[in-house]
Amino acid sequence: MLVIRKLSACEAGDLRDHLRRLSAADRRLRFGHGVKAAGVERYVDARDWARTWTVGAFDGPHLRGVVELHRCGPWWAMTAELSVSVEGRYQNQGLGTRLVAQALLVARNRGFRTVYLLCLPENRPIQRIVRKFAGEITAVEGDIEARIHPMRATPLSVMAEAFGDGCSLLQGLWSQEPEVANDRPAQHRAEPTKASPRLRPAA
Ligand SMILES: CC(C)(COP(=O)(O)OP(=O)(O)OC[C@H]1O[C@@H](n2cnc3c(N)ncnc32)[C@H](O)[C@@H]1OP(=O)(O)O)[C@@H](O)C(=O)NCCC(=O)NCCS
Repeated sequence: MLVIRKLSACEAGDLRDHLRRLSAADRRLRFGHGVKAAGVERYVDARDWARTWTVGAFDGPHLRGVVELHRCGPWWAMTAELSVSVEGRYQNQGLGTRLVAQALLVARNRGFRTVYLLCLPENRPIQRIVRKFAGEITAVEGDIEARIHPMRATPLSVMAEAFGDGCSLLQGLWSQEPEVANDRPAQHRAEPTKASPRLRPAA
């Protein structure tokens, strides 16, 4: 089952592993330039979790997609930068769109008035996603800058986020493998959970 939920700083390892699993081409699209394993390590180590909201899509124990929303400037600034990545086998099934929608809900409820992202001109999928959220796309010095203006927070949007957090907590508990006592032989252990038929990795 695919579980979409917020990540905390203690899950930095999951983020690192996800970014490492991206193909070299997708990492280039994600960061705007080629980044190797050591670069991913530096990025995750330097990440300021207090200024960044992270929402991830877990398939079983593995993080397969992530959206990061980073506050730009001081704590009262109302602008955030968004970055998103989905592993190759999970792409083109709507996951990137779902993650961006979730990040925009978080942005809305934190009072951000502008969410922007930078991407390479050839990155059509992310530009397609931005257009779904009525984002403006402009060319800036060889890159593409996209700006989305989230709506103002309402009690309903706050409740929607809280409800989503509660549901994903329950989903996470539900999809966990049952605890097996250490003294039981390995052949009695539970089978791993099967991937959700709604979002099955492409063959
Ligand atoms: C960008 C990215 C997150 C999209 O994830 P995804 O799960 O494939 O996204 P979705 O399936 O929700 O939407 C992709 C859209 O792009 C469209 N698309 C895919 N390839 C395309 C192409 N070559 N040209 C135009 N549109 C394309 C899809 O049809 C889909 O649109 P639709 O929903 O209207 O059919 C993913 O491709 C990725 O991780 N890329 C590498 C990192 C990156 O580029 N990040 C963005 C910069 S921070």
